[in-house]
Amino acid sequence: MNKYVSKLDLDRFGFVTVKAEGLKSIEDVNECISFSNNNNAELLIARLDASRLEAVQWVEASGGILCDTLIYYELRCHHAKNSVRAIDKDDETFQLREMTARDQEAVIHIARTAFSGYYGHYHSDSRLDRRDCDATYVSWCEATIQNRGEVNKIIIAEDVIGICGFLTMKVHDDRQLELVLSGVAKRVEGRGVYRRMIRQGIEYAIAAGFKRVFTSTQIINLTVQRVWITQGFFPIKYEYTFHKWFKSDIKLQAVNEFRFG
Ligand SMILES: CC(C)(COP(=O)(O)OP(=O)(O)OC[C@H]1O[C@@H](n2cnc3c(N)ncnc32)[C@H](O)[C@@H]1OP(=O)(O)O)[C@@H](O)C(=O)NCCC(=O)NCCS
Repeated sequence: MNKYVSKLDLDRFGFVTVKAEGLKSIEDVNECISFSNNNNAELLIARLDASRLEAVQWVEASGGILCDTLIYYELRCHHAKNSVRAIDKDDETFQLREMTARDQEAVIHIARTAFSGYYGHYHSDSRLDRRDCDATYVSWCEATIQNRGEVNKIIIAEDVIGICGFLTMKVHDDRQLELVLSGVAKRVEGRGVYRRMIRQGIEYAIAAGFKRVFTSTQIINLTVQRVWITQGFFPIKYEYTFHKWFKSDIKLQAVNEFRFG
């Protein structure tokens, strides 16, 4: 289990948030709640493998609310050469390359528009301000841009008008490449930009000698899952994301009264 106070969330929402991943047992849940209390946290964001039902139900009993369900997919690189769907190399409408410093503004602009009103776990929690939720993805993208290098890499797509898509990737030390965050400009949506970037990520992984490529999304994000499946990825696990609030019960009551009368 990994648990920490999130600096990004503190900066964004203005209160202490603890994030925890890989909880497996009731003891893990209790440990996270104690850690949150000791750090004066207002919110605990806990991710649990969906197969750990005892721990999941303990989070529910402790007042956690389900905010999203993630599905993880994986591609084994030695299978990838046969299974990936080829991109039409003659179609030069979109060019792909690694991001450089001068692309920063354009990439952040795409992140801002692509994730406006998105349906991640922040947006699902009615106690969080919508604009702050939109901004978490932009901050995440900005932080990745600042930390570009051996571990964090960003592919961009561009056409004659300019940059129209980005894909962030993270190198893990067990020869695994994670495809993390991506966004495509509205003006080119549905024209295969995302599929091209995923394909480019896979080609990079094969060329660099990675064993596996993995990625994740909300189960309701069907567009990206369709692309992954056609490129040979298969599902490997599900995770629930719970939010547990510590000091805002009165506020929740107000929200419920507003919602359900
Ligand atoms: C999801 C997103 C990245 C897709 O980008 P895109 O470049 O439009 O995707 P593609 O054109 O490569 O299309 C992918 C597939 O989805 C289909 N598709 C695209 N937009 C669609 C839509 N609005 N409705 C239904 N299907 C759609 C395409 O037909 C394509 O299927 P195909 O490969 O069988 O032809 C983009 O819409 C986006 O930025 N969304 C908001 C942020 C997000 O969800 N990011 C991904 C998670 S980090």
